[in-house]
Amino acid sequence: MVDFHSHFLFDVDDGAKDIEMSLAMLNMSSKQGVTTIVSTPHYYADAAKPHVAATARDESIEELIAYAKQENVRIPEIKRGFEVRVQKKLYEIDDFSELCIENTKTILLEMPLKSWDEDLLDVVEYIKTEKGLDIVIAHLERYLERIPNDLIFRLLEKNLYVQINAGSLVKRDKLDFICELFRNGMAHVIGSDAHNMSSRCSLMDIGHAYIRRNLGQEYVDKIEETAKKLLNL
Ligand SMILES: [Fe+2]
Repeated sequence: MVDFHSHFLFDVDDGAKDIEMSLAMLNMSSKQGVTTIVSTPHYYADAAKPHVAATARDESIEELIAYAKQENVRIPEIKRGFEVRVQKKLYEIDDFSELCIENTKTILLEMPLKSWDEDLLDVVEYIKTEKGLDIVIAHLERYLERIPNDLIFRLLEKNLYVQINAGSLVKRDKLDFICELFRNGMAHVIGSDAHNMSSRCSLMDIGHAYIRRNLGQEYVDKIEETAKKLLNL
């Protein structure tokens, strides 16, 4: 199972608060059946250059892998990535390679929680067409009640990939809409978006079970297939 979106790294964003929590989160993922997990710390272009953020992320990963070995804890394979906030400042970045998931042309983009406008959609279009990247929009379901539907559909028209949070599938008010997105080929991969071991922990196993129960095993298989394709696995 692939977890496409997680904040299990320590010392890089609002995710795990220390290395012990990072290891506990990875162990939990592993027990849920996650075999590959994408590390997606938040990236804000107005806060750091890509190289600076990538260095901090990679140090955290290296330390964590060594710690897992030392503690003899089984963890999923880690892929390096970011959750890149869409903002106009991204126009100033020439080389997007360090913002993509390692060894891919796939980038996980996060829209702001409010104030979408045409300019913001243009940034997404620019990254897709000018930089030639495969775009995955993080947790689209989070914007449903906050953003005018016409803007959400304008975004979806751009032929992007959409990631859904596993935890959203257990919410009755969101499940039907999410299932419709998958049925219509407008949602593609699942991520935990885990930040800790409690209020925002990984629910990847439950999320997959909901997909299986409500859409069928073929959708579980399709989600895995798409995730692996996007990660070049
Ligand atoms: Fe996230």
